[in-house]
Amino acid sequence: MTMMPSYKHLDQMLPWNDKVQVLECVAVLPETQDCKTFSFQSTEPSWFRYTPGQFVTLELPVGPVPALRTYTLSSSPSRPLSIAVTVKAQRDSVATRWMLDNLKVGDRLKAFGPSGTFSFHNHPAEKYLFISAGSGITPMMSMTRWLYDYARHTDISFINCARRPSEIIFRAELERMATRDPNIKLAWIVEESDPYEVWPGFRGRINALMLELAVPDYRSREIFCCGPEPFMRNVREMLAAAGCDMARYHEESFHPSTEAEAAPIIVDGFGADAAETAAEIVFTRSGITAECTSADTVLQIARTAGLNIPSGCQFGVCGTCKTRKLSGEVQMSHNGGILDEEVEEGFILACCSRPVGRIEVEI
Ligand code: FES
Repeated sequence: MTMMPSYKHLDQMLPWNDKVQVLECVAVLPETQDCKTFSFQSTEPSWFRYTPGQFVTLELPVGPVPALRTYTLSSSPSRPLSIAVTVKAQRDSVATRWMLDNLKVGDRLKAFGPSGTFSFHNHPAEKYLFISAGSGITPMMSMTRWLYDYARHTDISFINCARRPSEIIFRAELERMATRDPNIKLAWIVEESDPYEVWPGFRGRINALMLELAVPDYRSREIFCCGPEPFMRNVREMLAAAGCDMARYHEESFHPSTEAEAAPIIVDGFGADAAETAAEIVFTRSGITAECTSADTVLQIARTAGLNIPSGCQFGVCGTCKTRKLSGEVQMSHNGGILDEEVEEGFILACCSRPVGRIEVEI
C-alpha cells in the first residue's frame, strides 16, 4: 500500500532557498514529440519560493562527469509544493535527451537555484504581450499560470509560434484558461499544418501584419519574448521598426548575446580595463591559498587548485556558481545571474568575478 506523506501547512515548512537542493521526480508527463514535463518535490519538507519566469540548474548524471543544465520553471509559485520543468530535446542535445529517455518517477537530482530576472514581477504593468517559440513558451507558461491563479484582472495577449499545431506545448491548458478568463487572449502561428488537419489560424513566420491583427494594441504592452536567438532577433527588429518602446521589451536567453558581451553589468567596483595585477584567493573552507592575477576568474583559479565550484553557463546568467565572498574586492561582470541584494550580502558569481588584490571566498 502506498503511504501518503503527512500533511503540513506551508508555515510548518522551510521555503526553498538558493542552497543545493535534492529534488525527487514525482511525475513525468509527455507534452509533444520530444518534449516532456518533469515535476519535482523537495526531499526535505519544504515549499518552493521563486518568481514566475525564473530557472533552475539541474545536475544530470549523463556520464562520468555530471552535466549541469539550466531549465526555466514552467510551474507557478502559486502552487508551491512542487516545481516543474518542461524540456524539449534539440537535435544534438545530450543532457536533455538523457532526461527524456531516462529520468523517471522516484529518481533524485541535485538542483541549484532558482535564479533569473526574466519575470513580470520586475516590470509591473496592466497589459502584457508574451511572444514565444518552441520551448521558449515555458517562462510564459509559468507567468500565465501565476496570473490566472492570482491576478485575474491582468490583460495578457499570448502569441506562440511552432512548426506545426501538434508541436504547440501547453496548447490545451492555455485554451482552457482562455475560455475561463476573458483577459487571456491567444494567437498561434505555425509554419505548416499537420497532415490531414485543417488549421484555421496564422500560418508562416511571425511578421508585423500578424502582430497587428492578433494584438492591435501591442505598442502599449509590456512585452516578454523567449525562443531561439534568431527568432528573438526577428521579433526585436520587428518591434523596433514598428516604433515600440524597447525599454518595455524583455527577452530571455541562455546564450551570451552580442549586447550582453559588449555591455556586461559590472558591479563591485573597478573598471573592466584595469591593468592586470598580482592577486591572491584564499579558499577558506579548503584551507587553500592560490596566487593569481586580476585577469583570472575565481572559478578558473578554484579549478586549477582542484576545487569544485558547480557552474553552468559560465557567463554570469544562470547563477549556479554563486559563492560567498568573505573579504576583499572583485571585479564582477555578470549578465543578470545575481541580484543586487545578493551582492550586498557578499555573494559573487565565481565564473565572472576577478580578484582585485587579496580576497577570501567560502569554498
Ligand atoms: S556558471 Fe552561470 S553564472 Fe556562473
